[in-house]
Amino acid sequence: MTNAKPASATAAPHLEGVSLTGFFDASPVATFVINTEHVVTYFNKACEKLLGVNAADMIGERKLGLVFYNNDRPVLADLIVDGTSSVGVASLYTNQAHRSKLIADAYESEGFFPHLGDGGRWLFFTATPLRNADGSMAGAVETLQDITDRKRAEEDLLKHQSKLEELIEKRTTELAQANRTLLEDVARREAAETALLSRNTELNELNAKLSMAQQHLVQSEKLASIGQLAAGVAHEINNPIGYIFSNFGTLEKYLTDLFQMLVAYEKAEPFHGNAQTVLALATLRNSIELDFLKEDIPTLMRESREGIVRVRKIVQDLKDFSHVDANLDWQFANLNQGIDSTLNVVNNEVKYKADLVKDYGDLPDIQCMPSQINQVVMNLVVNAAHAMGAQRGKITVRTGVAGDKVWFEVADTGSGIPKEVLPRIFDPFYTTKPVGHGTGLGLSLSYGIVQKHHGTIDVQTEMTKGSTFRVMLPVKQPNPPVADGALPT
Ligand SMILES: Nc1ncnc2c1ncn2[C@@H]1O[C@H](COP(=O)(O)OP(=O)(O)OP(=O)(O)O)[C@@H](O)[C@H]1O
Ligand SMILES: [Mg+2]
Repeated sequence: MTNAKPASATAAPHLEGVSLTGFFDASPVATFVINTEHVVTYFNKACEKLLGVNAADMIGERKLGLVFYNNDRPVLADLIVDGTSSVGVASLYTNQAHRSKLIADAYESEGFFPHLGDGGRWLFFTATPLRNADGSMAGAVETLQDITDRKRAEEDLLKHQSKLEELIEKRTTELAQANRTLLEDVARREAAETALLSRNTELNELNAKLSMAQQHLVQSEKLASIGQLAAGVAHEINNPIGYIFSNFGTLEKYLTDLFQMLVAYEKAEPFHGNAQTVLALATLRNSIELDFLKEDIPTLMRESREGIVRVRKIVQDLKDFSHVDANLDWQFANLNQGIDSTLNVVNNEVKYKADLVKDYGDLPDIQCMPSQINQVVMNLVVNAAHAMGAQRGKITVRTGVAGDKVWFEVADTGSGIPKEVLPRIFDPFYTTKPVGHGTGLGLSLSYGIVQKHHGTIDVQTEMTKGSTFRVMLPVKQPNPPVADGALPT
């Protein structure tokens, strides 16, 4: 026994008793064959089943176009047989048909056939030329495969995919919207945070101002109570000074009398009979230096009188300035006197920096709260003193009458007020002085006091030449002041 192939091995072995029809009918692939006349020569069982026609009705006929397309158009196998496949395929199947990768000259395509089966069928079909031994065209074989399920599955898949894409797009839109909202929210929050921060800064500044105001108030309170104390002491001193002053006058008179008496005694002395007594008197006179006493006592008395007058003046000024007897009461008072007592009190601030010149007019008494007007005078004079540079300057205080009003002004030869500072000088807490030197309340308080008196305050200034603050006050307040000192509103 040998495995060697017989010499005629190139000839295909054939199955005993299986006809070509038998072979086709057994194939599960729907297949038909046409000859060069386009007449169907084979039509297998699977084809009958797939297309729903009998082989007997098809074999020997040329009605494949009717079966597939319901009209007389050629099928793929017809194009192969005619040799017009490339042109025909291009025109009839557009770009759905293409050459087979397995058999040369064979074509394959797929298409939907609406009148086949229930609701139409998708078919995948191939058509291959059949050639004689000499290579000439003998016909064409075409196979058909039902790909409806696959196509439907593909369509479903496509539908799902597009749904999915729609969903993704919707979600993306929603996400973008959410993102926008979030960004807006973040922006809003950032804006709110910025606003909060700036509010916080404002509050801090306000807080700092408040604590300065508090310090100022505490300071004013202290000054007020020191003023009250001083005024109280002044009041207490005023009485003893009063009787010392009046006693002093009497004492001077008594001394004059005594000196007269002494002169008389001295003149009578040589006529005294007792030499011993005369000697004793002379010794005593020398030892007490009577001549010197006679010269010195009047000088001492004059100096003491000046001292007492000064003390009385200081006491009077303290009383006037603090107006402790009539604090906060509306009353008629003389402005010139008020200014004088204030100048005496602030003399210490002024005397090292400037010469004070007074130029007073004749003024009627005005209805005012004297201690408050004194405060205004004091603020203006202290500011004027502070405006002086290294050089000693001059502060002039003038007063006068203008119709039913009186005015006073404080003019200095100081620095002047810069243009950019001028609009702010009456603002509370506005100061150009170094920290700890000014609270910036002097002018704003003064402004408030002048307003309460229905008056005006204005300023003329020139850089390096100086400034003049002028206050104008009505002689009589427009509304009759009420008993507790406040004006009715
Ligand atoms: N006579 C003046 N000459 C130049 N500048 C002045 C004069 N008066 C006021 N000013 C300016 O106006 C500002 C405000 O004055 P204001 O009296 O209100 O406050 P202050 O003197 O600075 O402080 P405070 O009086 O509370 O101690 C001053 O800081 C100063 O710059
Ligand atoms: Mg001031």
